[in-house]
Amino acid sequence: MIIVTGGAGFIGSNFVLDWLAGGDEPVVNVDKLTYAGNLGNLASLEGDARHLFVHADICDNAEMAALLARHQPRAIVHFAAESHVDRSIHGPAEFIRTNVNGTFSLLEAARHYWSALGAQEKTAFRFLHVSTDEVYGSLGPTDPPFTETTAYAPNSPYSASKAGSDHLVRAYHHTYGMPTLTTNCSNNYGPYHFPEKLIPLIITNALSGKDLPIYGDGQQVRDWLYVGDHCAAIRRVLEAGRTGEVYNIGGWNEKANLDVVHTLCELLDTLSPRADGKSYREQITYVTDRPGHDRRYAIDARKIERELGWKPAETFETGLRKTVQWYLSHQEWVANVQSGAYLKWVETNYGQRAGAGASA
Ligand code: NAD
Ligand code: DAU
Repeated sequence: MIIVTGGAGFIGSNFVLDWLAGGDEPVVNVDKLTYAGNLGNLASLEGDARHLFVHADICDNAEMAALLARHQPRAIVHFAAESHVDRSIHGPAEFIRTNVNGTFSLLEAARHYWSALGAQEKTAFRFLHVSTDEVYGSLGPTDPPFTETTAYAPNSPYSASKAGSDHLVRAYHHTYGMPTLTTNCSNNYGPYHFPEKLIPLIITNALSGKDLPIYGDGQQVRDWLYVGDHCAAIRRVLEAGRTGEVYNIGGWNEKANLDVVHTLCELLDTLSPRADGKSYREQITYVTDRPGHDRRYAIDARKIERELGWKPAETFETGLRKTVQWYLSHQEWVANVQSGAYLKWVETNYGQRAGAGASA
């Protein structure tokens, strides 16, 4: 069996669902259920003996050690993290706690467990650390995309905490010989994406008649990857990645934020037109920029394609259409996650941003 951390979050729950749809190897899913964790994402696995949910904090080293001893996994796939850049600006402490200290606590538990394994199990064991392209910092408009050897230059408390965790994973391989793998992926989108992030926020705000907030000039560039493609890449790295290596994962899909929002408005205009016949673009509002906002991310994903034969299956057009359709047909899921705590976050993040008027 494998242990997944953060398997009730956006990418983790997609990973668990995909994993069990593709095979019968059991998953122990360890999640603290922060605001971002939602067991509703895994409702289809209720009563499925292949999935065991454990409500725990990765910072609890004793509990992590006990879990490993009890379940004897052949691998750990580590998603658990605080993941939202804007939240890291308002409250960095939780990011250091979970992303740095939590990864350290998990690595320590894994090291003790792994050290005591028999020779064969020891060689076969894998610790796969899921990380982000944000650790490489920000690119200029004509810079080449990030490769696995691009120097780290994190700019937000979130990316700095992820960089710290990446370095710890690297050190555990280098010093102790632990069979680790690290993946650095670009922006994901798809089902179960919490509506604090750009794409689900725009879809859900549009449908409820709210403003569509664009930070700064909206010309920041991100490389978008459909979450199912990310999950397939992680499975492939787990299966055949070389230990101690880093694999960049991306969609070859660089888009400016404003273009993403325009595309979403066009899709919504077709799939769920406004009652007044106007375009959702009318709801676009420019707001104060994110402090320290990275201008451009781009991933060079040739290594994983060359060595492991992975490349994305979805284009941005197919992935985005599927995503919009998913949100249209899961409005109850949206209503459930937009709880009191969510509304408080919206007030914290957007209440202080001066709006600069609406524009299509
Ligand atoms: P998410 O915020 O949706 O989910 C994080 C999950 O981790 C939640 O279920 C939460 O309850 C759990 N968690 C948080 N703190 C915990 C703790 N101390 N102990 C146990 N569980 C805890 O995040 P996501 O977007 O699914 O991202 C998953 C991973 O992928 C993160 O490590 C993130 O850095 C990385 N990543 C995300 C993206 C993206 O676009 N979302 C891209 C590249 C990499
Ligand atoms: O690059 C990978 C990273 O992508 C992951 O490591 C992070 O966990 C994930 O949250 C994501 O980070 P971003 O900061 O790029 O994603 P977010 O959806 O928050 O923002 C995407 C872009 O849209 C970014 O340039 C900021 C902008 N934005 C975001 C929000 C929430 C807006 O213009 N308006 C908004 O309201």
